[in-house]
Amino acid sequence: MHLPNLDEAKKRTSKNNIYKNLTENYPKAYVGKKYFLRTYGCQMNVHDSEAIRGYLEMLGMENTTNIEEATVIVLNTCAIRENARDKVIGFLGKCKYLKKNHPDIKIVIAGCMSEQPDVIDDIMKNHKYVDIVVGTHNLDDLPKLLLKDLKKQEIEVFSNSDEVIEGFNYVRDSKIAAWVNIMFGCDKFCTYCIVPYTRGRERSRKLENIIEEVKSLKRDGYKEVTLLGQNVNAYGKDIGTSFSTLLEEVAKTGIERIRFVTSHPWNFTDEMINVIAKYKNIMPYIHLPIQSGSNNILKKMNRRYTKEEYLELFNKMKKKIPNVAITTDIIVGFPGESDEDFEETLDVVEKCQFDGAYTFIFSKREGTPAALMKDNTSIATKEKRLQRLNELVNYYSNKSNQKLLHKVVEVLILGESEKDSKKLYGYTDTMKLVNVEGSKDIIGKIVKVKITDAKSFSLDGKYLEEGVEV
Ligand code: SAH
Ligand code: SF4
Ligand code: F3S
Repeated sequence: MHLPNLDEAKKRTSKNNIYKNLTENYPKAYVGKKYFLRTYGCQMNVHDSEAIRGYLEMLGMENTTNIEEATVIVLNTCAIRENARDKVIGFLGKCKYLKKNHPDIKIVIAGCMSEQPDVIDDIMKNHKYVDIVVGTHNLDDLPKLLLKDLKKQEIEVFSNSDEVIEGFNYVRDSKIAAWVNIMFGCDKFCTYCIVPYTRGRERSRKLENIIEEVKSLKRDGYKEVTLLGQNVNAYGKDIGTSFSTLLEEVAKTGIERIRFVTSHPWNFTDEMINVIAKYKNIMPYIHLPIQSGSNNILKKMNRRYTKEEYLELFNKMKKKIPNVAITTDIIVGFPGESDEDFEETLDVVEKCQFDGAYTFIFSKREGTPAALMKDNTSIATKEKRLQRLNELVNYYSNKSNQKLLHKVVEVLILGESEKDSKKLYGYTDTMKLVNVEGSKDIIGKIVKVKITDAKSFSLDGKYLEEGVEV
């Protein structure tokens, strides 16, 4: 048993990465059994779930979407806001009931919630039916824990790590677009954010390993890679290289589409902008969270830039990268946010006219500095602010979509639309979701689509067959 510890999670003392290559094979002890896996949170977790699937399938299990037939249930959890956590706790109720009727089911908690000491306390006291908790730094312990003859709740969570793990046998969700980790952790310590505590210090993968992975994905027919990190532009600082160098090398592999998330406005250099502008296979799409338009709040958030600096960077990107789309994240109701502060946020949205924005009400995370800040704003006021902000944000995302109406755009078709099985879906280079009329044989291809309708959050379009006049 090893429990998470916040003081340990805060530490940023060591600078030496330990590169660990996984080579273990595990016995197929679960042949004929099924697993149910539910993922919460960001792309990082979605990709970790592909590693979890790799392990579960290595042990002989098959995937099921029917929880009733699962022998192993894994919840890959997120801790970013209280409602993410509430969802998991709610779902655990269902697991408890299943376990009552089928005591041999194994319930596993992985992901960021397992790194929170208060969550672990709660699981040990009130959710004794949970069998295994595994942390974000030691996901590679999962198969060993599943192979153990469990006599008691197994909690194996470490709060920091120097390790960079290579060699996961990912079972990827898509055969067309793939996630590629380029780094782990975060050292920014924005005062509201739990991620530096749940994911540990910033560690970069070796450049050659990333390039090898992209090349191998390309050989396997992948059309798109998304480079993942909490701050992709901090890539390489710990190992003497940089994100612009990496991006250029990835572009040279010739893979058709390259994306990256998330960018931090603080260390986004001119070299990075130049590389994005230079290579056609680097998509003109940047997710650039601003969080607030008020300098007072940005300072309290420890975001390390001012509204003016953000605008300068934003305008430089718009000028230098042809046709670039920029989206953002915004938090309303940070402790001490006044009406004037909020007006500054609206002002920045007016100025930037973002292609899209994810908006959140501040959620207090235990252990973060902002949890101790005085917060006098009522929840009703925060909700009103969120509503006003959303109206403005939606107005501009609709406006940016309207610009594409009747135009012909290139779309990478990813599969059948979930809402309407007669339609397909895919994304433009600028990351706009398009529901496309067309036959299934275009799945996995980058095709020309004529946009027939534009809404706030998606576009409709028609596939244009090669050689057919519009
Ligand atoms: N690494 C990324 C974002 C990670 S979390 C970045 O720095 O931009 C995704 C988003 O969740 C953040 O951009 C922020 O807007 C939001 N978020 C993080 N912590 C939050 C909190 N305590 N309350 C509300 N929103 C939060
Ligand atoms: Fe959280 Fe800030 Fe790190 Fe993003 S940069 S993960 S918001 S601490
Ligand atoms: Fe959530 Fe952890 Fe991602 S807290 S947003 S799953 S890094």
